Amino acid sequence: MEVFKRLISYSKSYWRRILLAAIGSVGVGAMDGTFAYLVEPLLKKIFSENQLFILTLLPFGIILIFVFRGTCRFINDYYVKTAGQLAIQKIRNAVYERCMGLSVGFFNRHATGVLMSRVLNDVNMMQEGVANTITGLFRDGFSAVSLLFVIFYRNWQLAIISFLVIPATVYPAQLIGKRIKRYSKMGQEKMGDLSSVLQETFSGIKVIKAFGLEAREIEKFRDQNQKFYEFVRKTIKYDSSSAPVMETITSFGVAGVIWIGGNSVISGRMTSSEFFSFITAMALVYAPVKRLTSAFNVLQRSLGAAERVFEVIDQQPDIVDLADPVIVERVKGEVTFDHVSFSYGEDPVLQDISLEARKGEIIALVGPSGGGKTTLVSLITRFYDVSGGAILIDGIDLRRMKLQDLLRQVALVDQETILFNDTIANNIRYGKTDATDAEVEAAARAAYAHDFIMEMPEGYGTNIGDRGVRLSGGQRQRLCIARAILRDAPILILDEATSALDTESEQMVQGALNNLMANRTTFVIAHRLSTILHADRILVLEAGRIVESGTHQELIGRDGLYSKLHSMQLT
Ligand SMILES: Nc1ncnc2c1ncn2[C@@H]1O[C@H](COP(=O)(O)OP(=O)(O)OP(=O)(O)O)[C@@H](O)[C@H]1O
Ligand SMILES: [Mg+2]
Repeated sequence: MEVFKRLISYSKSYWRRILLAAIGSVGVGAMDGTFAYLVEPLLKKIFSENQLFILTLLPFGIILIFVFRGTCRFINDYYVKTAGQLAIQKIRNAVYERCMGLSVGFFNRHATGVLMSRVLNDVNMMQEGVANTITGLFRDGFSAVSLLFVIFYRNWQLAIISFLVIPATVYPAQLIGKRIKRYSKMGQEKMGDLSSVLQETFSGIKVIKAFGLEAREIEKFRDQNQKFYEFVRKTIKYDSSSAPVMETITSFGVAGVIWIGGNSVISGRMTSSEFFSFITAMALVYAPVKRLTSAFNVLQRSLGAAERVFEVIDQQPDIVDLADPVIVERVKGEVTFDHVSFSYGEDPVLQDISLEARKGEIIALVGPSGGGKTTLVSLITRFYDVSGGAILIDGIDLRRMKLQDLLRQVALVDQETILFNDTIANNIRYGKTDATDAEVEAAARAAYAHDFIMEMPEGYGTNIGDRGVRLSGGQRQRLCIARAILRDAPILILDEATSALDTESEQMVQGALNNLMANRTTFVIAHRLSTILHADRILVLEAGRIVESGTHQELIGRDGLYSKLHSMQLT
C-alpha cells in the first residue's frame, strides 16, 4: 500500500490529464449504462407495442452512442496513458539523479548491468502497472458502476443473488496476486543479471574474442535467460489461472440468475424486456470487471518492480555537504594528510598516512601493486571518506567544503582513459563545460593532441564512438590530459597508465604531462622513470603505509624498497 501511494504521488502533478481522462471515462461508463438500460423500453416498444418507427431510428441511435463513446474513450485513453508515461519519466529521472548523487563506493557494490536494468526494465514494468491501474480505476470502474446501477435498478433481488459469489473470489484473487508479485520480482532480479551479462560482455568484447570465449559466454547468457524464463513462466501461470478461476466461481452466480430470473419471467413477476435489459447489463459488466481483476494482477507485478526502483531512490548518499560548509573559491593547493587511515571493509587499506604537499609540488607515489596508491588519491576527491585522521586543503578539512567546491579544485587523469560517445571537442569539454572553442583548442595544443585531431575527418567535431575505439592508446591519453588542462585546477591527480607507448607517443604524452603539471600540486602514481625524476618527493607505499620518502637521489642511496623496485624495473 505504501509503495502504491508513492507510485500515485508521482502522478499528482499531472492531475489535469487525469481529470480529462476521468471525464472521458465517465462518458464511456454512462454510454454503457444507457445502452443496457435502453434495451428494456426499446424491446417493449418495438415488439410488444409494435411502434416500428423506433426500429427505423434505432440504427442511428446506436451509431450515435458508439461515436460518442469512442470519442470519450479516446480522450480517456490518451490522457491516462500520457499521464502514466509522464509519471514514469519523472521516476526514471529520479532514479538516475539519485544514482549520480551516490558515491563511488555504491557503484563498487552494485553491478552496472543490474543498475541499468532497474532504470530501464523495472521502471517500464512500473509504467505498465500505473497505466493499467489508472485506466482500470477510471474507465472500467465507471462502466462497472453505471452497469451495476442498471442491474440493481432492474431487479435488486436478482442483483444480490448474482453478487453473492463475489466474496468467494476475494481470497483466490489475493493469493494469485501475491504469487504474481513475488515471482515477477524474482524475474526482474534475473533480468538484472541478464543485463549485467550483456553489459559486461559487450564492453569486454575484445577479451572474449581474443581468448575465443564466445561459446562460453553464450552458454552463460543462455543460462541466465533460462532462469529468467523460469520466473516469468511462474508469473504467467498465475496470471493465466486468474481468469479461469474467477470465471468458474462467477458462473455459479450466472447460473443462479438465469434460473431464478427465467422463473420470474414465466411466473409473471418480471417482464421479458426487463430480464433482457438485466442480462445485457450483466454481460456488459463482465468485461470491465475482468479487466479490473487483471489490472490488479498487473499492479501486483509492477509493485514488485516499484519496490526495486524505490530501493535505489531511497539510497542515502553517504557523502553529503555540511549544513554550514566553508565556501572556497580557488585554493592555493596545499594538501595535507594528517594521520589518515582508511578501509573499504574490515581490513585497513591505509594506515597512519601523514604527508604535506606544498603548492606546485609534484608528489610521486610508487610501490608494489595493491599497496594503496589508487586508494590514497581517491580520498582527495572524496570518492570515499577517510576512516580516521583528516585531509586538509589549504588548511581546511575536505569534509567541511561543499563537494562541488572541492571537485572544482581537482583535475583527475585516470589510469583508464575514459571517453564518451560524443565529439572530440565535447569530450575535452568535460573538463569545463562552458569552455569556448578557442579554449578547447588551446588545451588540445598543450596536450599535443591538436595535430592528430585535425587529421580526423571532422576535426574537433568528430564523434569518437563508444569508448573511442578509433583512437590509439596514446591519443586517448592525450585527450584525457587535454581535458585536465582545460579544467585548470590547482590540484592534479594523475594515475599514470602502465601501458607501454611507442617512443614518439611516449614523448608526446610526457610533453603533454609536463604542460599539465606546471604550477599545480600534483599527485602522480608514477610508472615512468621520467616522471619520477621530475618529482619533488617520492612516497613509497607498501601494505598501506608510507615506508620511505625522499627524492630519487636520496632514496636510491638508501638501499631500501625503492632502490630494489628501481633496479628491478631497469633490469
Ligand atoms: N573498491 C574496493 N573495494 C574493496 N577493496 C578494494 C577496492 N579497491 C581496492 N581495494 C583493495 O585495497 C588495496 C589497495 O588497492 P589500491 O587499488 O589502492 O592499490 P594500488 O597501490 O593502486 O595498486 P596498483 O599498483 O595495482 O594499482 C588492495 O588490497 C585492494 O584489494
Ligand atoms: Mg592503482
